[in-house]
Amino acid sequence: MQIGVPAETTAGESRVAVTPETAKKLKAQGHTVRVASGAGLAASVTDEAYRAAGCEITDQSGALGCELVLKVRPPQEQELVAFKPGSTLVGVLNVFDPAGLQRLAATGITGFALEAAPRTTRAQSMDVLSSQANIAGYKAVMIAANTYQRFFPMLMTAAGTVKAARVVILGVGVAGLQAIATAKRLGAVIEASDVRPSVKEQVESLGAKFIDVPYETQEEKEAAEGVGGYARPMPQSWLDRQKAEVAKRVAQADVVITTALIPGRPAPVLVTEDMVKSMKPGSVIVDLAAPNGGNCPLTEAGKTVVKHGVTLVGETNLAAMVAADASALYARNVLDFLKLILPKDGGLKIDMEDDIVAACLVTRDGQVTRK
Ligand code: NAI
Repeated sequence: MQIGVPAETTAGESRVAVTPETAKKLKAQGHTVRVASGAGLAASVTDEAYRAAGCEITDQSGALGCELVLKVRPPQEQELVAFKPGSTLVGVLNVFDPAGLQRLAATGITGFALEAAPRTTRAQSMDVLSSQANIAGYKAVMIAANTYQRFFPMLMTAAGTVKAARVVILGVGVAGLQAIATAKRLGAVIEASDVRPSVKEQVESLGAKFIDVPYETQEEKEAAEGVGGYARPMPQSWLDRQKAEVAKRVAQADVVITTALIPGRPAPVLVTEDMVKSMKPGSVIVDLAAPNGGNCPLTEAGKTVVKHGVTLVGETNLAAMVAADASALYARNVLDFLKLILPKDGGLKIDMEDDIVAACLVTRDGQVTRK
């Protein structure tokens, strides 16, 4: 199979879908890997490194015109013309963007959206949401520590004692857990909240305190358990009680990192303007939900702004700010997924009996196949 690796052209996207490490493995499986010149540069991978791994260096249309194209982001409209009808595309294809999927389908591309893989044990090694959210959680803390004008750890010095930073993490999925672990390594005092009851133990095992908001009705309990590991919107009664508990913690916090998301829906508002007003000057909020509307209404996607004396960071692609490792992990996710669709005897196999393949397949034969 001829495999193409184009440069990502979405603004701010520095990751690349194949690294020399994974290219070598694809080559060993008998594939030809054609990389667009400069595709890896923003992730610190030179053309030379790809050449040394056995890749051919081509131009952007040469990479997009391959039988199988591996990408991070969905192709831009102007790139679609370079695809060969009947070719296959693997990447994060924005499954909640029906118009984008329709455009892909119209070009005759067989599209696999990796973010649609089920959250099962077998799919873990190809789970791009987890590999990238983990990086985002880490980077969020790095940005917060860099922006905050005080120390994270408690320090006793000859010039006096410095108090540890108080960090509140809202939403404890993959990103939130990594944010807790990273802030803990820096010596912060951490409290965290999530709707899912299973999270309490994980939060405590990382040395943080769980902000308990007990469930009072069966409806609240069922909503909190979610579906497939994902949260569902919680009943207003629970959200009101959560808000009161969170407000107390946010008022005392130095840093708030929010990661609360509900797939396919706007992010829940967890930090209101009044809560921001209650924070100390110089406090920092890093809102990982910025691309989905933000967990704080004052967040501006893609910008860092100061409101009521609080710095709000609305970066929308934190994983891309750790481009080399984000690409390394993403590329391994892609390689693992390819094992399911590239049989040893050549060609492309779409086994709809395989739950991962079936879930990821979003376009085929000119149709959007995702329900
Ligand atoms: P996500 O990015 O969709 O959401 C982040 C977090 O926000 C979630 O923990 C969610 O419960 C929380 N949240 C939503 N609404 C909230 C609210 N109103 N207040 C507070 N928190 C709220 O989730 P992510 O990180 O993609 O994964 C969620 C979970 O899925 C993981 O923690 C894990 O349990 C499970 N998972 C399972 C995997 C597997 O078995 N292979 C792999 C990855 C994740």
